[in-house]
Amino acid sequence: MEKLVIHGGNRLSGEVEISGAKNAAVAIIPATLLAQDVCRIENIPNISDVSCMVRILSQMGAQVKYINKHTLEINTKTVNSYIVHHEMTKQLRASYYLIGALLGRFCRAKVALPGGCNFGVRPIDLHIRGFELLGARTNSEGGMINAAADHLTGSAIYMDKVSVGATINIMLAAVKARGLTIIENAAKEPHIVDLANFLNSMGADVRGAGTDVIKIHGVSEMHGCTYSIIPDQIEAGTYMVAAAATGGDVLVKNVIPKHLESISAKLIECGVRVTEYDDALRIQSDGKFRKCNIKTMPHPGFPTDMQPQMAVLLTVANGTSIVSEGVWDNRFKYIEQLLRMGANVQVDGTIAVFQGVEELMGAPVRADDLRAGAAMIIAGLMARGTTEVEDIVYIDRGYEDYVEKFRELGADIYRKQIRDDSAKPATAG
Ligand code: EPZ
Repeated sequence: MEKLVIHGGNRLSGEVEISGAKNAAVAIIPATLLAQDVCRIENIPNISDVSCMVRILSQMGAQVKYINKHTLEINTKTVNSYIVHHEMTKQLRASYYLIGALLGRFCRAKVALPGGCNFGVRPIDLHIRGFELLGARTNSEGGMINAAADHLTGSAIYMDKVSVGATINIMLAAVKARGLTIIENAAKEPHIVDLANFLNSMGADVRGAGTDVIKIHGVSEMHGCTYSIIPDQIEAGTYMVAAAATGGDVLVKNVIPKHLESISAKLIECGVRVTEYDDALRIQSDGKFRKCNIKTMPHPGFPTDMQPQMAVLLTVANGTSIVSEGVWDNRFKYIEQLLRMGANVQVDGTIAVFQGVEELMGAPVRADDLRAGAAMIIAGLMARGTTEVEDIVYIDRGYEDYVEKFRELGADIYRKQIRDDSAKPATAG
């Protein structure tokens, strides 16, 4: 086991290169099951969520090889089973995308449900309802989801709630269904658009991704392709906030500024200077922040996956800031760790009220989940003194080479081995 040791107070400066998007990669890799052909995927992030998904596909019989650190070649021609057991899916929540992909490939899927998560209940009723509207019969027994259809038929599907995962899973099943599928009230995140572009590169016919109505004309055959994954919106936002929080001056490179508009807007509202280039953003701050209110919403609203990171900056903003979590029921667990560092925050359900304090003080804290872990790093970078972060296996899931990237920007941060007495597998979110 390892922990992070962070000596706070250094202003970050220099340049950081953003990696490929985790939440696009974990959808695109299972999507290769839809073509019995070779798919070459570039700009793959080197993170444990991706290596989990790669391992699962290999265990299912796919031929998977890394051409280099960021390029995967996958051929699923040799996959001949639609069953995925618990020991494979428990490592990664997004393994449920295999249900949609296997339904699209075999009209059958028997996939063990992954573990829960650290910020509230994570049902998949909208996924199941979508599969049933496409003609699949479903049931769940012994922790496995069974889905089967003689064939899948396109359908009109209105999403009762905006759901990234359900939108993705329905797309994966619908691309080879007979006829037209219309997904209304669809999620519009950048990774939904990236998946649609990947599927269309394989010969699918997906239109409207990025709007709330996605139309899919089913095709009978799909083929391999070469595709490059978009930059990670949340990784980029994390470095933007870290640069601001430390009063730094950082050029965040290899980004799509449009994906970061809501984050840039909130940083500017707090008094941070954001300069936009074609594929980069420059973040400059004096380390003093105006208060501001955040309400997390589905894209293009402020992303829930940036809520913990932005909250850290609000702990030292001048005045009272309110954060309202509009997506998850219980995504303020990390506040307990910030209170240990001297923050003044009151949480009531999905609302947190921040009274700005002079500064945070370093303390031993832990990562409750992936984005909470990123928030602990930002808190440690801006705090006075030393912060140690435990359970960093969560952070390794979604941030490529983050210690090296932060050190490159001047952070005093390093990994330290600790005895591993109570190892527990981290279920990825
Ligand atoms: C994806 O999770 C992301 N994970 C999450 O990012 C992100 O927080 C979330 O989308 C929202 O943007 C991946 O992409 C792998 P949802 P997902 O379905 O798909 C409810 C990270 O840090 N809901 O959009 O599981 C649900 O409870 C992770 O990278 C149902 O009620 O999220 C939630 O309240 C953490 N029934 C809301 O919808 C369903 O069938 C949105 O969830 C599905 C979801």
